Amino acid sequence: MSDWRRVKKLVTENWQGTRLRYAVVVLILVLGSALAVLDPILYGKMVDVIVDALRDQHPETIVNGVAVLLALWIGVFVINVTLNIVGRYIFWKANNILGLNFACSAVRDMLSWSRQRFSRLSTGRTVKVFDQAWEALFWVPGDIVEQVIPTVLTFTAVVIAGLILDWRLTIASLIMLPIAIWLGYYGWKKARPKQEQLDHRWAALSRHVGESIGNISVVQDYAQEDRRARTFASLMRQVVVRQLRMNVFWALFHGTGSTLTLLGRAAVFIVGVYLVANGSTTLGTLITFLGMLNYLLSPIQHVIGNSLPRMSMGVSHLRLYTDLADEINDLKERDDAVPLKKIVGDVELKGVHFTYGDQSRATLLGIDLTIPAGTSCALVGPSGAGKSTLVKLINRTIDPTRGCVHVDGKDHCLYTLTSLRRHIGVVTQDTYLFHDTILNNVKFVKPNATEREVVHACKMAQAHDYIRRLPNGYRSIVGERGVKLSGGERQRIALARIFLADPPILVLDESTSALDSETEHRIQQTLKEVMKGRTSILIAHRLSTVYLADQIAVMERGKIVDIGTHDELIKKGGLYDRLWSLQSDGYIS
Ligand SMILES: Nc1ncnc2c1ncn2[C@@H]1O[C@H](COP(=O)(O)OP(=O)(O)O)[C@@H](O)[C@H]1O
Ligand SMILES: [Mg+2]
Repeated sequence: MSDWRRVKKLVTENWQGTRLRYAVVVLILVLGSALAVLDPILYGKMVDVIVDALRDQHPETIVNGVAVLLALWIGVFVINVTLNIVGRYIFWKANNILGLNFACSAVRDMLSWSRQRFSRLSTGRTVKVFDQAWEALFWVPGDIVEQVIPTVLTFTAVVIAGLILDWRLTIASLIMLPIAIWLGYYGWKKARPKQEQLDHRWAALSRHVGESIGNISVVQDYAQEDRRARTFASLMRQVVVRQLRMNVFWALFHGTGSTLTLLGRAAVFIVGVYLVANGSTTLGTLITFLGMLNYLLSPIQHVIGNSLPRMSMGVSHLRLYTDLADEINDLKERDDAVPLKKIVGDVELKGVHFTYGDQSRATLLGIDLTIPAGTSCALVGPSGAGKSTLVKLINRTIDPTRGCVHVDGKDHCLYTLTSLRRHIGVVTQDTYLFHDTILNNVKFVKPNATEREVVHACKMAQAHDYIRRLPNGYRSIVGERGVKLSGGERQRIALARIFLADPPILVLDESTSALDSETEHRIQQTLKEVMKGRTSILIAHRLSTVYLADQIAVMERGKIVDIGTHDELIKKGGLYDRLWSLQSDGYIS
């Protein structure tokens, strides 16, 4: 898609509430242009009144003649200033609405991107690109409405007025125009790729900073601050060098534009003096033309010197954003998807294959697994076997490359994503917390929960005692990503969340891996209660937590190699039996 088509699409998608305002702004600018042309005409007339009066030797007529024109002139000026103020207000209002509409819809869209898609992006870069696009959407349509359209209109008005007054002087005024148009076109073509490169550097820089901060513990623990800072400095230098080149380019460009303006003025002056000297035009007309030239040339100069560089930058920013936003979402809700209302809890995987986008080898190879409603199924196997990938298929974090997943006997793609996920609670090894209180972090999954419900859930998750001991109890702030809590404490908050959410289907992916054996043991008792009558899928390295499951699926290299109850698998004597013998000394009483 061409750059302008992209800009047009972004603007038209977000212009509700701005169109009328922009139209009023253009109308005001048209009026302004017409009045602006009156200005030099009026003082040109004043000069002619004076010159005529002196020539006819009736100096007493000067005062009356000039007074009327002066009053008109001031009137025009006052109206113009008022229009300008009102126009600017409406213009900024429309610009802000456009930015607001864009930001809201962009964030909403971003929140629906698949996690696969996010895994290809960096937060620092994404935030920067979004930020720049938002700003660009402020400038690009703004410059078009406020600079380009008025310039074209003023230009038209001035040319018409000029042709009425004196066609020869009009041609002299326009002599530099083709060169100016070519210059604008040349600058635009030349600057776009340079600007795009610069934007990519900026994005890389933001990514670097974002990653340094996000991974601050590993940076500091391995004493890599110096190296990170040096890499940053070198990235920054690249940005600065390119930015400077860009600035020099536009400065030269601006200079050339000013020179053209000067040459245009000179042409009018030379032709004008010649025409006045041989008596074929009046001095007033020449002065009018010189005045109109201001209205003609300074907007063109402004468009070339200011709007063009800004729009070039803005269009480049918008391109970077649309590249990001228009990427195919690998996880799409069907158009005819229906909400999943009441759920029984049958889960079935049928011939499921899955390959991560950037991998050549399949991670899951023909998985068939039936988990009847209300039963539990454990997945065991070496790390990298594909256990976490398998459970990600159930709540549609990813979609199978081949095969399908059924929930309550129907392909779960038929349900809307949010309604499906509302019925499936997932706790993983990693706990994601917001920079907020513990209370709000637990309540996140059920915003209307009462404090009593939260406390009850935390008690179940063995989190209540440590939370109570914190200086502010449930109102303690956990820090960004929960940095103020230990791994085990964070994990118990994740468990409290799922107990509060109380979903019909439970997925526990190493959800107790960060806990000490004693706490884990206590939580096992709770989990046993919670899992009763609920479809549960659990993954755990400690077999003591899985051996009571209704069925245990043993996974190896993307396949289920064995399935059965604990006793059956022990009797068979395969991988499960070996793992069990290794672990039973330590954990099983
Ligand atoms: N987001 C991802 N992108 C690409 N490959 C991945 C991703 N997540 C996991 N993998 C790959 O898939 C394989 C299985 O991973 P996983 O399902 O997490 O195993 P398990 O949970 O059994 O330890 C691993 O070899 C890993 O390299
Ligand atoms: Mg895993």
